[in-house]
Amino acid sequence: MLRSTLLAASRSEAIRELVERTPLTRPVVKRFISGDDVDAAVATTGEVLADGRYVTLDHLGEDTRDAEQATATVEAYLDLLRRLELAGHTDRAEVSVKLSAVGQFLPVDGEKIALENARRICAAAGAVGTTVTLDMEDHTTTDSTLGILHELRVDFPWVGAVLQAYLRRTEQDCRDLAHAGSRVRLCKGAYKEPASVAFQDKADVDLSYVRCLKVLMAGEGYPMVASHDPRLIAIATELAKDRPRDSYEFQMLYGIRPDEQRRIAAAGHRMRVYVPYGDEWYGYFMRRLAERPANVAFFLRSLITT
Ligand code: FDA
Repeated sequence: MLRSTLLAASRSEAIRELVERTPLTRPVVKRFISGDDVDAAVATTGEVLADGRYVTLDHLGEDTRDAEQATATVEAYLDLLRRLELAGHTDRAEVSVKLSAVGQFLPVDGEKIALENARRICAAAGAVGTTVTLDMEDHTTTDSTLGILHELRVDFPWVGAVLQAYLRRTEQDCRDLAHAGSRVRLCKGAYKEPASVAFQDKADVDLSYVRCLKVLMAGEGYPMVASHDPRLIAIATELAKDRPRDSYEFQMLYGIRPDEQRRIAAAGHRMRVYVPYGDEWYGYFMRRLAERPANVAFFLRSLITT
């Protein structure tokens, strides 16, 4: 109930304005977001890399209906990639891109523009020796995003994608993408989805996650286990025990279970942290609140006591 309300609020302009205008929100937002600009993003990347973890960076923003905004997002990624190269970080830091931020929802030629924009980002990433992973948004975008992934992989075979275990279709998508060279980030899924396309019970989502993991770990691709769930991490570790350590990785979000992130990295596994930055933090922040009621209590408490 709370999760649905928060996810509905994540798409409300009125609530967005209210939350963004409250200065007291800031300290809580900071737990999940590196900072407003590329300087903060590069600094956070340096800190995370320093103790052996890897990074994927997300320039925050989504659902743009404005072509200029989509172009500005591409420029922000190009700037970020230049800065990562200058800092010497591109061997262990890559970028994550939401296609809706680079034009997928534009009313005219949205998919075509998103493909061309993503192509520019991939070319820049390839030039500095790093990779790109396409985030996955709500289920209405899955076919379009996987279609764009296939197009991009013709020129940039290292482009990865996210699959969401809560979607009923995902086990089959995992089979389709479990081939050599294919990078798949498996997560539970963070959007409000109808029962017709997505499992609604947490237990069913977890079971689906394990089925998907088995497909990916038995395949020849590069599974990226994106979860903070201790049970799923234990299962993934067991499934991966006969794989070379550089043939899969774990991933978690910035600000969530950082000690566990360091423990996994110290145990010799690749652990990548998803680091978001920028001032368009509202949708991302609300999805993090929706994932965990304790975060809402933390947020409300800080509003009262700050
Ligand atoms: P679950 O939500 O069951 O949490 C397990 C435990 O982790 C909790 O008990 C708690 O201890 C901790 N935890 C989880 N979330 C927390 C939070 N917000 N605050 C504090 N503690 C928390 N989704 C999507 O739809 N599209 C995408 O592209 C991506 N991309 C992505 C990349 C990466 C690297 C990660 C780790 C996750 C995503 N996600 C995503 C989000 C994902 O779908 C999911 O919503 C969250 O990871 C939470 O699910 P868990 O698997 O962590 O399990």
